[in-house]
Amino acid sequence: MTQAVATFIYKSDSNYYIMDKIIRLNKRHIEQLVIIDFESEHKNSSKHVSKQEIKKGIQNRFDKGHEIFFGYKQNKELVGYVTLKPFFPGYKHCEVYWLAVKKKCQGQGLGTKLMKFIEEYAKKNGFRKVCLYTGQNMKLTRKFYEKLGYEFVNEFKGYYGYPSGNTTAVLYAKSL
Ligand SMILES: CC(C)(COP(=O)(O)OP(=O)(O)OC[C@H]1O[C@@H](n2cnc3c(N)ncnc32)[C@H](O)[C@@H]1OP(=O)(O)O)[C@@H](O)C(=O)NCCC(=O)NCCS
Repeated sequence: MTQAVATFIYKSDSNYYIMDKIIRLNKRHIEQLVIIDFESEHKNSSKHVSKQEIKKGIQNRFDKGHEIFFGYKQNKELVGYVTLKPFFPGYKHCEVYWLAVKKKCQGQGLGTKLMKFIEEYAKKNGFRKVCLYTGQNMKLTRKFYEKLGYEFVNEFKGYYGYPSGNTTAVLYAKSL
């Protein structure tokens, strides 16, 4: 059984108590992560990337071992995930490399819970700043990070390798 690293207990509409969990992920979760990425409908990459390519990308990321993966489990379903790269240029900086929540679960606060969890995790592990890149044209996502206290740092043309569309990234950072 996978051990929860955070739990969220709340009352459902039918008055039952529900327990959501954040768990540490490993290679056994790859298939579920492919589904999350596919069903998160990322505004820029989903136009270009097939399920097979997503799987290859995630496998490759696990093989490299540069990221720590955490997933949000609702009932028995993994519905979102966040990853942290425990390094980034700068003194005790780290990077939130990936964040995705299935479309059907978006807007319910899960992305916020994952971000708050990863910030807490980073702080506990001695980091003083979380950095992240997102698409320049991803207005809602940028608003989401700004609401969480992330500040715009800079813009990078051609950062993403998409064959068409907007490839400019914006860098955000938040002091812990
Ligand atoms: C960005 C994302 C992780 C946010 O997760 P979430 O669970 O919907 O976030 P929350 O419910 O905690 O917060 C919702 C806020 O995020 C914003 N948001 C960003 N993208 C959104 C989307 N596709 N649908 C709904 N809300 C979205 C909303 O403006 C909302 O703000 P509000 O509370 O002022 O209305 C999620 O929308 C997602 O997976 N998007 C596709 C993948 C992606 O873009 N990942 C980030 C790439 S860097």
